[in-house]
Amino acid sequence: MLRLVQNTPPPVALRLDDVGLCRGGRMVLDGLSLDVPAQGITAIMGPNGAGKSLSLRIMAGLIAPEAGTCTHDLSGKQDIALVFQKPVLLRRTVRANLAHALAIYGVPRAKRKARIADLLDFGRLGAIADSPARALSGGEQQRVAMVRALAAKPKLLLLDEPTASLDPQATDAIETLIRDTAAAGAAIVLVTHDRGQATRLADHIRFMHRGQLVEAAPAAQFMLAQKSPEAQAYLSGHLLL
Ligand SMILES: Nc1ncnc2c1ncn2[C@@H]1O[C@H](COP(=O)(O)OP(=O)(O)OP(=O)(O)O)[C@@H](O)[C@H]1O
Ligand SMILES: [Mg+2]
Repeated sequence: MLRLVQNTPPPVALRLDDVGLCRGGRMVLDGLSLDVPAQGITAIMGPNGAGKSLSLRIMAGLIAPEAGTCTHDLSGKQDIALVFQKPVLLRRTVRANLAHALAIYGVPRAKRKARIADLLDFGRLGAIADSPARALSGGEQQRVAMVRALAAKPKLLLLDEPTASLDPQATDAIETLIRDTAAAGAAIVLVTHDRGQATRLADHIRFMHRGQLVEAAPAAQFMLAQKSPEAQAYLSGHLLL
């Protein structure tokens, strides 16, 4: 049978189908269907309360949807890593935080030293490797949290507003880390309110509103012109309730 290449759907890393979730007596996710392409960076955008963070928790397997399904082909528990909006580091040095993560992920003791060196190098954390993690700046802590998540060698990395409240320089450092991680082959989901960041980083956009997917598009196309009135209003800075 003749098959046209352009009709082959792109591979998907993870899919939410008709997901429902109730919180505080109301449906905060309501018929949410959303796919995460296996290649590249997918930005999830949408106003406060749209359900972005809860969706990430479902993707990471931290909470189960009350309706619908979350499906993926990723086998191990460590294949999906989530970095929270406000990550909490251990009250130890950066190096010890990474060592602890590697131990949890079952990396043999003999291999940990080399892996820590690789991770410090990858995150450009060498200069602060022996500083107490909790004393670092917000941007540095966010970078440590990301690198700590990478200790699991995840195939899918979920990032919840990783640069919220960071200055341009720290934001730039995180964005470099995100690009490097994508280049190393991991699929990335990035929740962001930052239009510039989505333009700089994202390959795909998923726009959510009131617990549903309102628009899905390639990033370049979405940034140029949004199809839904909700996304148009959001991107032009109008209050969206
Ligand atoms: N435990 C809870 N009890 C009541 N409501 C909750 C609870 N957890 C989440 N919600 C509500 O669910 C909705 C979606 O929350 P979520 O944190 O996913 O939003 P978000 O899109 O990440 O928003 P933001 O951009 O502000 O981070 C919000 O209206 C929130 O108030
Ligand atoms: Mg959130």
